[in-house]
Amino acid sequence: MNIKELVDVKNATQSRRIFWEQDIYEREMERIFARCWLFLAHESLIPNPGDYVTTKMGEDEVIVWRQRDGSVKAFLNQCLHRGTTLCNAETGSANTFSCPYHGWTYGSDGDLRGVPMQKEVYGPRFNRDEWRLREVPNVAVYKGFVFGSMDPQAPSLVDYLGDAKWYMDIWADVPGGIEFLGPPGRSILQTNWKIPAEGFAGDVYHVGWVHSSVLKALAPDTASTRTQRTYSAEQGIQVTTRNGHGMGICFDRYGALLNGLSPELVKLIPARDVSEVDPAKGPAARSLYDGMWDGTFFPNASFLIGLNIFKVWHPLGPDKIEVITWVMAEKRMSDDAKRRLKVAAHRAFGSAGLLESDDLDAFEYCVRPNAGYVTKQGRINTAMGLGMDREDPDFPGVVSDLLSECAYRGFYRFYVDCMDSQNWEELVRKGEHWKEQLIGG
Ligand code: FES
Ligand code: FE
Repeated sequence: MNIKELVDVKNATQSRRIFWEQDIYEREMERIFARCWLFLAHESLIPNPGDYVTTKMGEDEVIVWRQRDGSVKAFLNQCLHRGTTLCNAETGSANTFSCPYHGWTYGSDGDLRGVPMQKEVYGPRFNRDEWRLREVPNVAVYKGFVFGSMDPQAPSLVDYLGDAKWYMDIWADVPGGIEFLGPPGRSILQTNWKIPAEGFAGDVYHVGWVHSSVLKALAPDTASTRTQRTYSAEQGIQVTTRNGHGMGICFDRYGALLNGLSPELVKLIPARDVSEVDPAKGPAARSLYDGMWDGTFFPNASFLIGLNIFKVWHPLGPDKIEVITWVMAEKRMSDDAKRRLKVAAHRAFGSAGLLESDDLDAFEYCVRPNAGYVTKQGRINTAMGLGMDREDPDFPGVVSDLLSECAYRGFYRFYVDCMDSQNWEELVRKGEHWKEQLIGG
């Protein structure tokens, strides 16, 4: 597999095969999903010891479990006897899990605590310590967001997020912090996981087109609806950071869409007071606080700030994903505001949301044509703004105009490095000149 031929970073083109072929997908599972830090849960979903959620890392099913000491661990969601899924619930609270098949029982620390009739049927040679749950080697929490990596050699989560932290802090550090309002929405989609992940990282271009009719109804004065004809560079920035994370921030638009969905709600949301932003970040950070954000933490966790949506795109094969959608509230909001926010956000970006429906069709139609043998040999591009990516003294990472595909290029630059590296050491070495690679065009 010649990944550099499949994805041309310099000229910003990609073979359509990366959105279709099984062998490429399997390498992604090995070199991206079993290696990178993946979003697992938000701490507010598992506040007490014993609380758990089940999720996936790639296609590996995992249990994310709050420990007695308050820390969070994650384990493969499989019994070590004959391999059955241990927990079929999406969330709950338990100190132990008993396997539904033959009853082996595991504690929240992963220990195998009980085996029915152990002495009688297994005899003295059986050692329970050898059959504890398989633990995810790295689990870490940043600002309440729990991530895990299957690769013991992975850098720390803080290093992995890198400059993306600087941006995340601006919206995650609201006074009192963030809370996820569960349960999430869930849907299955016939697309490749990279299509929505890249789109949330950097696709502002589509907003004024595919969403035009919805936006005319919800927010006729938003900058987004005007992007087709009257776009200007002052509207915002697009950013990419070293490990493929990307985001776009449209200035001064925090509540613009929510207002269209629920004007009563907007009156209940605490106003964005720029003095709440850490002064150490400088005045540029303040200019982002009142913005509407889209973004993706590489590889598959995306967010919209201003609509307060957080999504994970779980791969289920090269042409299928499961979409999980949570609503993020500020903890300090009233219960009434949280309830209204949940309804409004799902109405926009839930499984049957007004804007979501526009996107999902596009996501599916980007992938389906690859069934065609000739189509699949073709290439597509992320060339918007190529050659204009730059460093900015006010903003970390590589920056471009809001309306560009800078974040796509950062996503695919890191994608190639992941797919082409044997281990993290090689991956880190390859990324040393990431800015020059992008800015050099
Ligand atoms: Fe779990 Fe047998 S498969 S106890
Ligand atoms: Fe969209």
